[in-house]
Amino acid sequence: MQKVLVTGGGGYIGSHICVELAAHGFLPVVVDNFCASDRRILERAQRLAGRALVVHELDCRDTTRLREVLQREGDIFGVIHLAAHKSVGVSVQQPREYYDNNIGSLLSLLAAMEGASIERLVFSSSCTVYGQPKQVPVTEQSPIERAESPYGRTKQICEAILNDVVASGAGLRGVTLRYFNPVGAHPSGLIGELPLGRPETLVPYITQTAAGLRDELTVFGSDYPTRDGTCVRDYLHILDLASAHVAALEWLGRSSGGPCNEVFNLGTGAGVSVLEAITAFEAVSGVRLRYRLGPRRPGDAVEVYANVDKARQQLGWVARLGVHDALRDAWRWQQAIGRGL
Ligand code: UD1
Repeated sequence: MQKVLVTGGGGYIGSHICVELAAHGFLPVVVDNFCASDRRILERAQRLAGRALVVHELDCRDTTRLREVLQREGDIFGVIHLAAHKSVGVSVQQPREYYDNNIGSLLSLLAAMEGASIERLVFSSSCTVYGQPKQVPVTEQSPIERAESPYGRTKQICEAILNDVVASGAGLRGVTLRYFNPVGAHPSGLIGELPLGRPETLVPYITQTAAGLRDELTVFGSDYPTRDGTCVRDYLHILDLASAHVAALEWLGRSSGGPCNEVFNLGTGAGVSVLEAITAFEAVSGVRLRYRLGPRRPGDAVEVYANVDKARQQLGWVARLGVHDALRDAWRWQQAIGRGL
C-alpha cells in the first residue's frame, strides 16, 4: 500500500483527505502539530477510513524531526502539504507568525523531501492569490493581484517558491491547487470543520446561528454590483475538494517528465451569492435564519468563481456536489457537535 504524507492531516481539510486517500487504497501518514486541530477528529477519520492512520505529532518547521519521520516511514509516494495558518483576520494582527509558519513549513518540507528523494507534492493554495479579480470566472491564467492580507501573501510567496525550486532543476513535481471556498462536512456527521472561536467564514457562521450559538448573521454588504447586492463565491463541498487531491496525486503518478508545478483551480464553476446561500440553507435545514444586512467587510472581493476546465480536462476531476449538499452536510455536522466535540 502506497504511503502519502499529509501535513496538517488533522485539520478540517486534512481529515477529509485522509478518508478519501484510504478509500483509494493509499495509506495516509499524518504530520500535524495540533495547534488548530483536534486529535479526536483523526480518531473519527480513522473509523471512516476503516484502518488505523499513522500520526506523527510535530511542527513542519522542525526539519530535523521531519527528516527522521520520512526516514522512518521509508517509501513515500507523495506529499500533500496543508499545514498552515488560515485566518485572514489573525494574519493582519500577527504577520510574522503567519510568514514564519506558512513559509517556514514549506521550506522545511522541501528540504526534507529533497533529502528523502520524494518528488511528488500537492500544495494547498487559495483563490485568494487572485485578489479582486477583474474578470470572472477566474482561470489559472488570471493575473495574481496584490494580496489583501498577510495570509494571502503567504500563499502567493509559497507558490513563487515552488516555481523557483522547479526552475532550479531540483527534482520536484508539484501540483498547486487553488481552492475556492471549501465548505460542508462528511455526510456521516462524524467529521467537519471546528472553527476556533468566532467563525470568520460564512458557512460555520450560518450553522452556528441556526443552532442558537450566535444571535444573528450579519450579511457583509448588500449594495455590491451583483444580482442581489451581496458578494458571490464558489462554494465547494469538502468531499469534492478531498477527491481532487487524490486525482492530483494520481495525475502526478501517471505523468512523467521533468520538474513541474502545475496549477489548478478547484471550485464548482458556479457563483452563489450570500443571500442565495442563506436561502439554500433555510431550504435544506427547515430553519429560519436570523440575519441582517450590514456594512461591507473591508477587503472582500465582489465576485469570485472558478473556471474549472483545466482540472476537468487534465485531472479528470469535477465537483459532483452543490451548495445545497454542502449546507445540508454542514448542518448535520453542527447538529452532531452542538457546542463542541
Ligand atoms: C475565505 C477566506 C479566504 C480564502 C477564501 C477562499 C476568511 C476570512 N476568508 O474568504 O482566506 O482564501 O475563503 O478559500 O477566512 N460573509 C458574510 N457574513 C459573515 C461571513 C461572511 O456576509 O459573517 C460573506 C462575506 O462577505 C463573503 C462571503 O460571505 O461575501 C464568503 O465569506 P467567507 O466565507 O469569509 O469567504 P471569502 O471571503 O471568500
